[in-house]
Amino acid sequence: MIRLLPLSLLVFASAACANPFPNGNAQAGQKLFEQYKCGHCHAAMLGGDGSAIFTRADSKVRNANELVEQIRFCSGNVGANLSAQEEQHLGAYLNRYYKLK
Ligand code: HEC
Repeated sequence: MIRLLPLSLLVFASAACANPFPNGNAQAGQKLFEQYKCGHCHAAMLGGDGSAIFTRADSKVRNANELVEQIRFCSGNVGANLSAQEEQHLGAYLNRYYKLK
């Protein structure tokens, strides 16, 4: 998976202690999450609303870049071609669980 990082990613990666998704809107992210039915597989895997996948002990996500990577990977699952802006929205929403800095 060799590709150039979008500029937005580089910008927030360099702002170490700030909000990692400054251009994201958590409410817009929640809408996208519902629109793409992101929770369906996670719920099938873990029960409930599936959000336990974000807080599981062996979470794959340690930082904002990894969260965006995972959002991209999973958006392939739903055939969504997310824009950088949509990734930021989803990141801002999911950071309610991750609380990444
Ligand atoms: C086809 C099923 C499926 C769909 C639909 C899906 N996911 Fe996932 N998701 C998975 C699986 C499987 C994993 C666990 C991957 C692993 O362990 O490597 C996962 C893991 C994740 C994680 C990482 C959890 C962690 O902390 O380890 C995030 C974040 C995530 N998904 C976001 C999304 C988003 C956003 C969408 C909607 C665009 C979505 N997923 C749709 C199957 C799906």
